[in-house]
Formats: sequence, C-alpha cells, structure tokens
Amino acid sequence: MEFSSQPLNDRWCFLKRIGKGSFGEIYSAYDMVLQENVAIKIEPISKDEKRLSLLLEISILKKLQGCPYATQFIHCGKNLHYRFLIMELLGKNLSQLLKEQTFHQFSLLTTIKLGIQMISAIEYVHKIGFVHRDIKPSNFAIRKNVQNQPDKELCCILDFGLAKRFLEKDGKYRPPRLGVGFRGTARYASLSAHQKQDLSRKDDLISLYYSLIEFLKGSLPWSHLKDRDEIMKLKIRYNNLELCQGLPPEFTQFFLHLQSLGYSDEPNYKYLRSLLRNISVREGFGNGKYDWEIQEEQMMSIHTDSKETSDSGNQIKIYKMETDSNGQINLKEFVTSFKNEKERKKKEK
Ligand SMILES: Nc1ncnc2c1ncn2[C@@H]1O[C@H](COP(=O)(O)OP(=O)(O)O)[C@@H](O)[C@H]1O
Ligand SMILES: [Mg+2]
Repeated sequence: MEFSSQPLNDRWCFLKRIGKGSFGEIYSAYDMVLQENVAIKIEPISKDEKRLSLLLEISILKKLQGCPYATQFIHCGKNLHYRFLIMELLGKNLSQLLKEQTFHQFSLLTTIKLGIQMISAIEYVHKIGFVHRDIKPSNFAIRKNVQNQPDKELCCILDFGLAKRFLEKDGKYRPPRLGVGFRGTARYASLSAHQKQDLSRKDDLISLYYSLIEFLKGSLPWSHLKDRDEIMKLKIRYNNLELCQGLPPEFTQFFLHLQSLGYSDEPNYKYLRSLLRNISVREGFGNGKYDWEIQEEQMMSIHTDSKETSDSGNQIKIYKMETDSNGQINLKEFVTSFKNEKERKKKEK
C-alpha cells in the first residue's frame, strides 16, 4: 500500500512499515498532537466488509486498556480506502529478538521472565471473554522504559485479529462448534487446532508452551516444516517428555497441567507462573537482566572503549550472525574494539 506524504487526519505522519500480515500492515508514525512516535495498524476496506478483523482487534484492545501487558489505545477510524488503529509504539517483537541471539536461543532467565508476563497477558485476554488463537513470539513485543517499575521493560501482547469470544456477554460459556477451519500459525498450534476443533483457553497456553520451548532450544522439532499435516504428525510423535528433555522438570509439569484441561476448564494461571518462579528461585536468578539488555550494555562498553582508543591499531572485528529469508547465515561486521586488554588496562593506570 502506498501512502502520500499527507499526514493521516492532518495528525499522523507515516515513517516506515514495521510489519505486514495477511490482513493489513503496521507502520510507525509521528503523532503531531502527542509529539511522539506511535504505531498505525491499517486494514484495507473490503467490498463485502466480510473481513472485519481490525474492528474486532480495536474492540478487544479497548477492553484491555488498564492491563499493563496491552498496548495503549490512542485512536481509530476509517477513510475511503482503509480502517486504521493508532496505538502506542512498542519495541521489537520476541521473534525478532530471538533471531538476534546466538543460536537463536534465549537464556533460562530471559525465558522465565518472558513466560511469566506472557501468561499474565493471556490471562487478561481470557478474563475479558476472548481466546487469542494466535499466540506466538511475533505477537508479543517489548515496551521499554516503563516508569516506576523495578523492571524497566514489559512484554506486551499484540494482534487480536484471530481472537474469538468464548464467553457470551452474560458470562455463559459458548458451546464448542464442530468442524471449524484451522486458525493460527502451524508451528505453535495445539493439536486441537490441527484437528480443526474449536479452540479454548488451554490452546492459547499450549501455543505459549511451544514458544517457551523454542526460546530455550532455539527451534522446535518441526521448525523446518511448512506443511501443516507434517507438523501435526511430528507433534504427535514427539511426546511431551521428549520435547522438554534437558529442561527443568517444571516444564513437564507445565504441559501436564495443560493436558489435563478440558474445553471449558479454566487454566490455573497462578500455578503455571509459580512453576516458572520456582525455577527462578532455585537458580537464584533474582531480578536479572534480559539477554538483549546485557548485549546492549556490552555493545555500549565496547563502543566507548573503541572510541577512547581509536588511535591504536590494536582492534578486533566483531561480527553478528544474521539469517536471511533463505535461511542463509551471514556474518555482519558491526563494530571494532580494542584487542589487547592488558595494553588497555596499562593505559588506564
Ligand atoms: N504497537 C506496536 N508497536 C510496535 N510494533 C508493532 C506494534 N503492533 C504491531 N507491531 C509489529 O508488527 C508486526 C505485525 O503486527 P500484528 O499486530 O501482529 O499484525 P499481523 O500479524 O496480523 O500482521 C508485529 O509482529 C510487530 O513486530
Ligand atoms: Mg501478528
């Protein structure tokens, strides 16, 4: 979709595209009233108005205001061509952050910190009567510099375009429908989703479970597959024990709880968070930093060092591993720093 340089509603100037999905696109933009950058999600208006996923998303986001794990709603509207949602601009999504890590893995500490917040975010969505149905790393992004929080970064939930109401407005449970179509993303979908069953709260948490295993292991046994049925076969073949091999026993307990739930059962979110917290306590993690925060700090110190000693020829090149769309790994040179630590310390004295 092409945009003119004219600001949207004389207020929002498009900056760049930050995401593209099957229904619409996401842009960063400058809000001339708030005088800050925001995110704009747009969806073309289809002739028959059958695709109303952004309308649904807007209504869910409004209901979630007040939840610390949801983006702040700013505005919504439509013009001749598209419907739009203006919201707070977050940082990178978890899939992007994962890809930037060595071997595409997060540490146990980072995984636990994220997992606890992701459970809470999902719980909020369920509390307002919806199942998300597309829980995956790219549907969570980081809010930086949160005020008055010991932890300055929060993990927020995104993308309610596939969500479905499971509670009627009067609080009664909607009976499951038969023979529904596949919804979600094959890699993270629960077996119920593969079997085209109506999804419930436990299915969101099973997708979260697959995401956490991917964080820790760098991939899932079916990550290389595209075909949905092939993926389903592997999910059946890899029983839970194999999937959590080498991980703390709490991950087995996590899955066993989800497996014990029926369609209308409420998951025990508190218990799931406590399982992750137990690991954190046992490992003595305290309020440790996220992997990317540590990396950023290291970058800063390398950068400062290399500036201080830029007249020295004693430098090393540092490379970052990046995977392109064909799965090809490229090494990208991005900073040079001082090689000889002894020399540097001598200079400092
Ligand atoms: N408020 C936001 N702030 C920053 N990035 C966002 C925001 N909303 C979406 N994104 C980015 O755009 C991507 C796609 O957005 P999403 O809402 O998941 O739509 P879809 O997957 O349906 O295209 C996300 O994975 C995320 O990287
Ligand atoms: Mg998405």
